[in-house]
Amino acid sequence: MNNDTVGTAVRLRLFGASHAPELGFELEGIPAGLAVDPDALRGELERRSAAAYGFATGRREADEPIIEAGLENGVTTGGVIRMSFKNRAYDRSEYRPVARPSHADYAAFVKSGGGEDISGGGRYSGRMTLPMTAAGAVCRQLLRTRGIEVFGHIAAIGELKDAPFDPMLTEKPDMDRLFPLVDPSLGAGMKALIEQTRREGDTLSCEAEVAVTGLPVGLGEPLANGVEGTLSRLLFMIPGLRGVSFGELRARGSLMNDCFGEGGRTLTNRSGGVNGGMANGMPLIFRCAFRPVPSISLPQTGFDLIEKKPVPLTITGRHDTCILPRGLAAVEAAAALGTADLLMMGEENG
Ligand SMILES: Cc1cc2nc3c(=O)[nH]c(=O)nc-3n(C[C@H](O)[C@H](O)[C@H](O)COP(=O)(O)O)c2cc1C
Repeated sequence: MNNDTVGTAVRLRLFGASHAPELGFELEGIPAGLAVDPDALRGELERRSAAAYGFATGRREADEPIIEAGLENGVTTGGVIRMSFKNRAYDRSEYRPVARPSHADYAAFVKSGGGEDISGGGRYSGRMTLPMTAAGAVCRQLLRTRGIEVFGHIAAIGELKDAPFDPMLTEKPDMDRLFPLVDPSLGAGMKALIEQTRREGDTLSCEAEVAVTGLPVGLGEPLANGVEGTLSRLLFMIPGLRGVSFGELRARGSLMNDCFGEGGRTLTNRSGGVNGGMANGMPLIFRCAFRPVPSISLPQTGFDLIEKKPVPLTITGRHDTCILPRGLAAVEAAAALGTADLLMMGEENG
């Protein structure tokens, strides 16, 4: 089975792999007549690219989008949007048939009987977030026409934690584009921690916090297509993501409930903008927890997939120390894709 399409009214399919000649996406369900700003698209790709950050993986790719279908003169036709990217900075001869600890290598090798190209992580690589970010950039522009914004910040790098968003989010915080923090004074310490950990050959966990503002009350369909499930399905396509949580979780109802004020708005937003799987009119706020990047450069034990035995392994080459900040563009893209899906589902049902 290879049904890798995600979404109900807006459907996404990713193709290609880390060390394949190309990778890209097909996106169905975006209405005709949407102007897609190429600078906004490039801006999102730049936030995801390693070149923007001195401390990220050394793999450098141009990430130049090739629009193959669905856009005429920068405007959507209503048909399938297909976009691809060429991979150039890879060398399959570097690949050794040894499963790396906590990567997808072992499971993918067994599942495919050795038939799948898993060099560089194959389809399980963080590189797959490139087409996802591009597809999300298209959706962000659709959302913008409806007054919906998606933005996030680095909530934690290792043990260092940023201040959370004010859950009422009466206005969008003014944050750096590439290293967004609510408290920018923490940036230097976080970057130093990434650099120090990289020098030690190790990697770091991290957390993102994301807000979606301007959602119409009632967005989200009952049960299977609720807000949390729809967004989470897309978010968990991002390699390294381990947890998603919406709003706060407090020990008692009396500390957790959001009482009403004028016009149906609530006086607090502990629910994070969602009740019963539907947007409640307050900003949608969720957190994503990422594992430390599995490619550490310290000595480990891998599994030789041909000889079928554990073998000493020291990973060399180009790797991120931490999935954020690069992964934030992908997290926001997943949120935009899910929100666009919910909006279009609502329009189909309404
Ligand atoms: C933007 C991004 C960049 C990543 N960079 C790396 C990397 O350089 N090295 C690495 O080992 N893992 C990297 N990862 C994470 C792995 O792809 C992921 O942990 C691995 O495929 C196993 O999947 P799992 O952690 O979801 O189980 C990255 C993930 C993302 C989203």
